[in-house]
Amino acid sequence: MPLFEWDGSLALGHELIDAQHKSLVELVDQLHGACLDGAEGSDPRSVLMALYKYTMFHFSEEERLMKQANYAEYAEHKAEHDTFVSKLDALAVQAKQGRADIGQETLKWLVAWLLNHISVVDKRLAACLPKG
Ligand code: FEO
Repeated sequence: MPLFEWDGSLALGHELIDAQHKSLVELVDQLHGACLDGAEGSDPRSVLMALYKYTMFHFSEEERLMKQANYAEYAEHKAEHDTFVSKLDALAVQAKQGRADIGQETLKWLVAWLLNHISVVDKRLAACLPKG
C-alpha cells in the first residue's frame, strides 16, 4: 500500500511545478517501498540520494521562477526549502556513513512536510506565476 500517492488533489495548475511535485511524491513513495521490502535495486540509501538530488533540482527551479516573477515571498519560501534540505542533508550524510535512520517517523515527517509545503506555500506561489 503506497504511503504517498499523487492523486491530483495536490495539483496547482502550473504544468512544470505539478510535474516535478508528482516526481517528488513518487520518490518519497519509492523510499517507503525500499525501506519496507529491501528488494534488490531498491536500496533505501540510493533512493534517498535520488530524492535529495531531485529535491535540490526542484527547489532551484522554483527559486528561479520566483526570481523571474519578482515574487514578494521569495525569502520566506526559500527559508522553507532550506529547512527541508537541511533535514535531507543530515539523512544523506548518515546514509553515506551507512547509518541512515529512514524509519517510519522520518517518512511521516517527509510526507507531512511536503503535503503542507505544496498545499500552502507552493499554492500561494503558483497563484502568482504565469501558467507554465
Ligand atoms: Fe515545490 Fe516550494 O517546493
